[in-house]
Amino acid sequence: MTERAASRTAILVCQGRAVADGRLGIGRFSDPIATELLTDDERALVTLVRAGAVPASFGPRMEYELLSATAEVMAVRTIAIDDAVLAAANPQLVILGAGLDARAWRMPDLRGTPVYEVDHPSSQAEKRARLGDHESTADIHFVAVDFAKDSLPAALAAAGHNDSVPTTWIWEGVVPYLTPAQVAATVAAIAQRSAPASRLIVTYPTPNRAYKYGRKAMQLILTLSGRPNPMAHEPQRSTWTPQALSALLAAHGFTVTTDRDLESLAVETKVEGKHRSLRADGHILTADRT
Ligand SMILES: C[S@@+](CC[C@H](N)C(=O)[O-])C[C@H]1O[C@@H](n2cnc3c(N)ncnc32)[C@H](O)[C@@H]1O
Repeated sequence: MTERAASRTAILVCQGRAVADGRLGIGRFSDPIATELLTDDERALVTLVRAGAVPASFGPRMEYELLSATAEVMAVRTIAIDDAVLAAANPQLVILGAGLDARAWRMPDLRGTPVYEVDHPSSQAEKRARLGDHESTADIHFVAVDFAKDSLPAALAAAGHNDSVPTTWIWEGVVPYLTPAQVAATVAAIAQRSAPASRLIVTYPTPNRAYKYGRKAMQLILTLSGRPNPMAHEPQRSTWTPQALSALLAAHGFTVTTDRDLESLAVETKVEGKHRSLRADGHILTADRT
């Protein structure tokens, strides 16, 4: 992401949720707000994928497959995160790198709960514009932070976050875009404001060379065929083994209670999908502060 541009990957994952809504993980996954946060152009691609209208030419076909795969990832990761949030039932929620996350607008259990949506200032400004007159029933606070240079603890304190009661933290789809040092600094910041019984929910990519080169090839095809490349300005900056991330969290007082790959979770939660290896490389962990 450049200094000024809002996140395009946040739009891609929102499109993924819009594709999945009512089609994947039925009865377990639903995000009716996602489609409402998209522009007409962004929604047109969603409609194409929902209709299963596979384009014949290469570039549009790549765009179609990227969104279709994203939908399969989003359905399962959303179910797992929602479950972990509800199980923790903590009195406040912080969503780090919130993008177009609609939990504060769609989850009835968050009614009245303080929810701190933290994001890069440009991404957050774009979200607020897209929200229009959508009202959250949660007690929503927008906190603009660049993880690469701002103080997360100071920004949260200024926004009214209470570090003496437990917090549930969602860190979904952000770790890959941060350097290892930025991830470590953010974990330290989270720990600083986490009372005992706080819960951290993180999604992260594990190292996989085939995935790395596949991603580069897909981006090249999109660019060469004149299609928009949502990853163009958001390079992948870190991957983590479960052992390395668990050790980092342990060093900051968090004990990992679950760490699952998304494909095995998808099988369990019956979220259909053909992009199995992509899901197998994505992990979600829950870590609790004792
Ligand atoms: C793929 S999107 C995920 C959005 C959301 N969590 C979701 O899953 O729908 C990545 C998010 O990370 C945020 N992000 C990336 N780098 C950041 C940084 N240095 N500081 C703050 N936010 C950042 C982007 O603004 C964007 O909202």
